[in-house]
Amino acid sequence: MTVGAAEEVLPTAGRPEVPSVRAMFGGIARRYDLLNAVLSLGEDRRWRRRAAQLTRLARGGRALDVCTGTGALARLLWRRVGPSGSVLGVDITEEMLSLAARAVPEVEFRVADALELPVPERAFDAVTMAFGLRNIADHQRALREVWRVLRPGGRVVILEFSTPRAVMRPLYRQYSRMVIPRVARLLLGRTGAYDYLTSSISAFPGPDVVAGWLREAGFERVGFERMTVGIVALHWGRRPG
Ligand SMILES: C[S@@+](CC[C@H](N)C(=O)[O-])C[C@H]1O[C@@H](n2cnc3c(N)ncnc32)[C@H](O)[C@@H]1O
Repeated sequence: MTVGAAEEVLPTAGRPEVPSVRAMFGGIARRYDLLNAVLSLGEDRRWRRRAAQLTRLARGGRALDVCTGTGALARLLWRRVGPSGSVLGVDITEEMLSLAARAVPEVEFRVADALELPVPERAFDAVTMAFGLRNIADHQRALREVWRVLRPGGRVVILEFSTPRAVMRPLYRQYSRMVIPRVARLLLGRTGAYDYLTSSISAFPGPDVVAGWLREAGFERVGFERMTVGIVALHWGRRPG
C-alpha cells in the first residue's frame, strides 16, 4: 500500500490489498465511466461487447459478473439473457455498486469479494470479469472460485489489459506517461489511481500466462484473443463436464 502526495491510499501493483483497492475505486467511482471512455477513446464499449458475446449466453441464461464496478458488462449480459434469465454483479466497492444499481436496475448487485463469492456451487452458465483480475493478488484463488460457481460446461470470460504488440509499445509507453496522468488530473484533480493503473498493467502478465492460470484452475478449451493492437486481451475457458 502506498500513500501518495494528496493522502491517497493506493494499492501496490502486483500485490493489491482489498482495503486499498476499495478505497481507490470508492474515490474515483463517480468519474470512472467517463475516464474509461476518454482514456480508451470509446474502445472500452467494444471490448465489453466482445466479452459478452464470448460467454455464448442465451435467453434464460444465468450469469455472474465479478468485479462488476458500475455494471457496464452486467448490462450487456442482461441484454443477452433477457427477462427470463438472471444476472448478478458483485464487487467490493459500495460506491461503484450504487452507481451500477441505478444504471442497470434489471441486474441484482451485491457487495462481495471475488475470493469468497456468496453463491452456491454450479449456479451459473457464464462468469465474466472485466478489468478485475489485475486488482486481485490471489488470482489463482479467484479463478478457482469462478470454477466452483460455474455449472459443468459453463464458460468463464476474462477481459484484462495486456502488453501491446512490440511495434506499438513505445507509443503506448508515451501514452501511459504523458496522456493518462494529464487526463486523470483534468477529470479527477489527482493522478494516483491512474499511476496505479499504469503500474498494475505493467505488472500484469501476457495472455499466454493468464491462459496457463485458467488451465491450472481446471478449465478446458482455454483460449485468448487480443484487441486494439494488444492493449487488452480476452481470455476464456470452460468448466469440464
Ligand atoms: C477497473 S474496475 C472494473 C469494473 C468493471 N468490470 C468494468 O468493466 O468497468 C475493477 C473493479 O474491481 C473491483 N474489485 C477489486 N478487487 C475486488 C475483489 N477482490 N472482489 C470483488 N471486486 C473487486 C473494484 O472495486 C472495481 O470496481
